[in-house]
Amino acid sequence: MTDARTWHPCGVNLADSAFLRACRRQPVPHTPVWYMRQAGRSLPEYLRIREGVPMLTACSTPDMIVEITMQPVRRYGVDAAIFFSDIVVPLKAIGVDLDIKPGVGPVVADPIRDARGLEALRPIEPDDVPYVTEAIQALTGELGGTPLIGFAGAPFTLGSYLIEGGPSKNHDHTKAMMYGEPKLWHALMERLSTIVLEHLRIQIAAGASAVQLFDSWVGAVAPADYREFILPHTRRIFEGLPDVPRIHFGVGTGELLGVLGEAGADVVGVDWRVPLDEAARRVGPGKALQGNLDPAVLLAPWEVVERKAREVLRQGRAAEGHVFNLGHGVLPSTDPDQLRRLTDLVHEAGRQS
Ligand code: CP3
Repeated sequence: MTDARTWHPCGVNLADSAFLRACRRQPVPHTPVWYMRQAGRSLPEYLRIREGVPMLTACSTPDMIVEITMQPVRRYGVDAAIFFSDIVVPLKAIGVDLDIKPGVGPVVADPIRDARGLEALRPIEPDDVPYVTEAIQALTGELGGTPLIGFAGAPFTLGSYLIEGGPSKNHDHTKAMMYGEPKLWHALMERLSTIVLEHLRIQIAAGASAVQLFDSWVGAVAPADYREFILPHTRRIFEGLPDVPRIHFGVGTGELLGVLGEAGADVVGVDWRVPLDEAARRVGPGKALQGNLDPAVLLAPWEVVERKAREVLRQGRAAEGHVFNLGHGVLPSTDPDQLRRLTDLVHEAGRQS
């Protein structure tokens, strides 16, 4: 079956790429690999281009987005690129007063604590993020046969930044609203879902061949509460997307893997705490898995990286499709040479006969 959208002008059918095939649980010539936060502070070429440029300025400048997205593809030969941006970019684009503070993360000037605060969250339109469309269109040309992953933060994770006003260990205010003011909570989740869904659609319309929903901090929630307070909103997002592979990722989600499998993604991202064979059992049939080498392993000598990576590949065979990745983002102190060697190892060792 061919789909006009997957044919690249250079004559390659992106649907044949190992990454998209693994997401769709089809046989692959080798295990595909990319790394969360593959573009970023572990790359000297990234640090150079970012010198003196604030994060949110970089995220709204098409030339910089294209160059930074390409850097890890050139250096590592990964099987997918991830669009250089941040989860708070669509919120900034609709006028939420926030910044990304180096070494801290997103900081919001007026945290949302009541119904009035919701008014700041109007729907997003393509004209709010022209630089996203422009950069993705340029990238699909530059990338040739390498698929581009678009992404967004999920409503819980975005909600936590908006309610707390910044990064949070326990998500106290967030959970206080969730349990104490469920109507306000659902209204907030609904507004965020509308923004997230449209932001992902904009990226797909511009040329992204897959999307990842980052619900990084959702591991803080118990399964029954996930079902009640978060699942309906995540489902609406996945159901509303056009037919591209959808990846769903969170950290510390061992107990949530079953219910995450119900949210509707094609691929469930797994952190390093649960071995992939056990994760496959918890997620259930009909899903591919992505993960899950502990990013800190890359700080150890190569022999350790190799041993641990082979273990992940072996455990990943229990999944119906496996996209190799880390269990969370690349740590800033990672030696890029380790990631280059790891990419080669996954391609060699993950070759299926
Ligand atoms: O993965 C990639 O290479 C694509 C780019 C990307 C960034 N942020 C760039 C970035 C992606 C996919 C994100 C997603 C993101 N942003 C998430 C979900 C993924 C995850 O890590 O769980 C979250 C929670 C955020 C919020 C955020 N933005 C944090 C926690 C930070 C780090 C703060 C710090 O400085 O330690 C940011 C800033 C950020 N986003 C940087 C990058 C490269 C670092 C800023 C810089 O280089 O100045």
